[in-house]
Amino acid sequence: MREWAGDVVTGLSSGDADIRDAKRVRQVVEQARPDWVVLAAAYTDVDGCESNQDLAFAVNRDGPVNVATAAKEVGARLLFLSSDYVFDGKKSTPYEVDDARNPQGVYGRTKAEAEIRLLELMPDCCIARTSWLFGIDGKCFPDTILKLAANRPALDVVNDQRGCPTYTVDLARAIVQLCRKNAQGIVHVTDEGDCTWFEFATEIVSGAGLATIVRPVSSQQMARPAPRPAYSVLSATTLRALGIEMPSWRDALSRYLQARPKPIG
Ligand SMILES: NC(=O)c1ccc[n+]([C@@H]2O[C@H](COP(=O)([O-])OP(=O)(O)OC[C@H]3O[C@@H](n4cnc5c(N)ncnc54)[C@H](OP(=O)(O)O)[C@@H]3O)[C@@H](O)[C@H]2O)c1
Repeated sequence: MREWAGDVVTGLSSGDADIRDAKRVRQVVEQARPDWVVLAAAYTDVDGCESNQDLAFAVNRDGPVNVATAAKEVGARLLFLSSDYVFDGKKSTPYEVDDARNPQGVYGRTKAEAEIRLLELMPDCCIARTSWLFGIDGKCFPDTILKLAANRPALDVVNDQRGCPTYTVDLARAIVQLCRKNAQGIVHVTDEGDCTWFEFATEIVSGAGLATIVRPVSSQQMARPAPRPAYSVLSATTLRALGIEMPSWRDALSRYLQARPKPIG
């Protein structure tokens, strides 16, 4: 919303419209009659999706179908946010937009199925796959690491999952550009560069000037309900072809650390 200067933008929360409610979604889209609908809403608890599969598919696959149907009815374009978790993580070079989907967990399956349905329903929609988001408002990895590091002498962080951390401000700027450029099809939108969660945590702790020791561990040592791809670096080829360049995740992290409200005392 903040990045969209100069245009009329309507922000809708889950309280305004639950995307599972097709009738309500149609009402709000009909009311706003926008040129573009940007759909960021999702059930994003990756582990929660494993134990709440019906909810996960209802929100993450059927919800986007409701939104796309409503957008189509008023002649609006749709930009849908998808995820690196549609891939299995078995590659060791960046995933291109046309690499085969093979999600490992329920969350990734819901996103992959949504992509397929949306491309059938609305072939000119834009699917922006992103990854490892962090931002000022809300829970995110750097925020969790900083809170833990403030109270612990050492932290264990997984070192066998590699991806592209992406600052929400950079993603928002890219989304605005994608809409202005009338982008369609699948694009990968992440900050430049890649790292493991351990490398990311190390940079967060040192960037914040903390002395906490960060220790590398394996995913097996930190077992979670949902499997995560070991490698989910997304190639920027398609984004670059559209003339959109992303900053590096290290630059993004330092802007995040500066923008973050400082703890009192
Ligand atoms: N976070 C990541 O690392 C990451 C990586 C790749 C892709 N993505 C995708 O990027 C998008 C944004 O992710 P995020 O991490 O910023 O998400 P988030 O912080 O979890 O926010 C999700 C939003 O969706 C809303 N929502 C949930 N269920 C809804 C429903 N049934 N109807 C309407 N709204 C609903 C939530 O509203 P309430 O708070 O009111 O429930 C919340 O505002 C998502 O599509 C996600 O799949 C995220």
